[in-house]
Amino acid sequence: MSEKAPQNTAELIINGTSYLLPIIEGEQGDKAIDIRGLLRQTGFTVFDTGFKNSASCSSTITYMDGSKGILRYRGYAIEDLAERCLFIEVAYLLLHNKLPNREELESFRTMLEQFALMHEDMIHFFDNFPPNASPMSILSVMVNSLHNYYPEMSDDPLVNIDITASRLISKVRTIASFSYKKSIGQPLVYPRYDLSYCGNFLNMMFDNPVRPYIVLPEVVAALNKLLILHADHEQNCSTSAVRLVGSAGGNLYASISAGINALWGPLHGGANEAVIQMLEAIHADNNDYKKYIAKAKDKSDPFRLSGFGHRVYRTYDPRGKIIKDACRGILAALNVDDPLLEIAGKLEEIVLCDDYFVSRNLYPNIDFYSGIIYRALGIPTNMFTVMFALGRLPGWIAQWKEMREDQSTKIYRPRQIYTGAPPRHFIPLGERS
Ligand code: CMC
Repeated sequence: MSEKAPQNTAELIINGTSYLLPIIEGEQGDKAIDIRGLLRQTGFTVFDTGFKNSASCSSTITYMDGSKGILRYRGYAIEDLAERCLFIEVAYLLLHNKLPNREELESFRTMLEQFALMHEDMIHFFDNFPPNASPMSILSVMVNSLHNYYPEMSDDPLVNIDITASRLISKVRTIASFSYKKSIGQPLVYPRYDLSYCGNFLNMMFDNPVRPYIVLPEVVAALNKLLILHADHEQNCSTSAVRLVGSAGGNLYASISAGINALWGPLHGGANEAVIQMLEAIHADNNDYKKYIAKAKDKSDPFRLSGFGHRVYRTYDPRGKIIKDACRGILAALNVDDPLLEIAGKLEEIVLCDDYFVSRNLYPNIDFYSGIIYRALGIPTNMFTVMFALGRLPGWIAQWKEMREDQSTKIYRPRQIYTGAPPRHFIPLGERS
């Protein structure tokens, strides 16, 4: 046992033997014990279900401080970006580690518009899904299939990454709106060169031959803000899925498709849909908040209050705060009076005074109010998580690119602690009782 471990080292004592492990420090002072040599040095692994205590990589993309409620993309405060940027500017920032100048933004915009069409053969895919197919399953299938139509990345995935990234960011919007049109039996509306990224998406969603859609600036601005707030969130479940598939050498489309599937779950991106279902249920139950709060606190009931809690934030999710502050204004500008807004406000008020939630630092997250805005924009509930995916896409791509450029990347391959049967004697089929 050492008298005192040297500076920037952690001393680990296992059964009386001392091991020194390096301490690494991030740009903002976050510290970690570097255990990369642990197994080799000690013969021990670490047990960390859900990776609650593990940093899976180092990254230059997004910074979060969970106790102070800080979120920055590439060093820029989320509040500034959400207030003052276009979504495609933020996408460029995430991908290139710099805010674009006018020329760079224009050329990125042109590239996005140029790639907006989908190969016509792919449009037939939509006919083969059942009428009630989930838009998330359609999105993941279509994105995975893009690899067959646009295989440029096969030889060296990083050579054409800008083209592939633009193609994905552009086409995902077309895929999402086409899947909606198919689900409601309306003719597809093709992308238009003259519309903005968000305007184009809204037009493809809501324009139809008998009732042309008027792209309102308030609606575009609200969507733009939401997509920026979704754009990245460091090593969350879906981003880790993207990195995991990419770490095995999987192509970008396959990796993003995995991310879409991970996002789908109600504990992750699917929470925005679950929040609306929960608020509707409370409304239908004569605003019986107490019943739902009691259910959420009951450990024998799997029900949780959707839109509350976060793995990293121990305070109000800064994205949730921006959305909440914007919510009333957006609904007023659109002349929408949604009873769910009052219910959400009241539920939040009660929860934030309840000892169960206070003692566990459970605050509203991004998904608590986002669905109310999506509803006001006319987006159907089953498309909410698709909207999250549209926003998260640039972050997923930036994270995938960062991982592939990093020479020290290893395939994701956690260990386990085996708790199954001890070695057993094999009995041939005919002799088994
Ligand atoms: N309702 C009731 N209890 C909760 C909730 C909730 N929403 N969230 C956490 N808890 C309790 C949990 O039961 C546990 O209690 P105890 O210590 O007595 O066992 C404690 O709080 C800690 O929870 P945890 O499950 O260990 O925390 P986690 O970091 O593993 O989970 C979470 C984080 C987001 C999955 C969880 O808070 C949750 O299920 N929230 C509801 C779903 C949701 O809103 N998800 C969106 C997250 S933000 C956007 C995104 O990432 O996609």
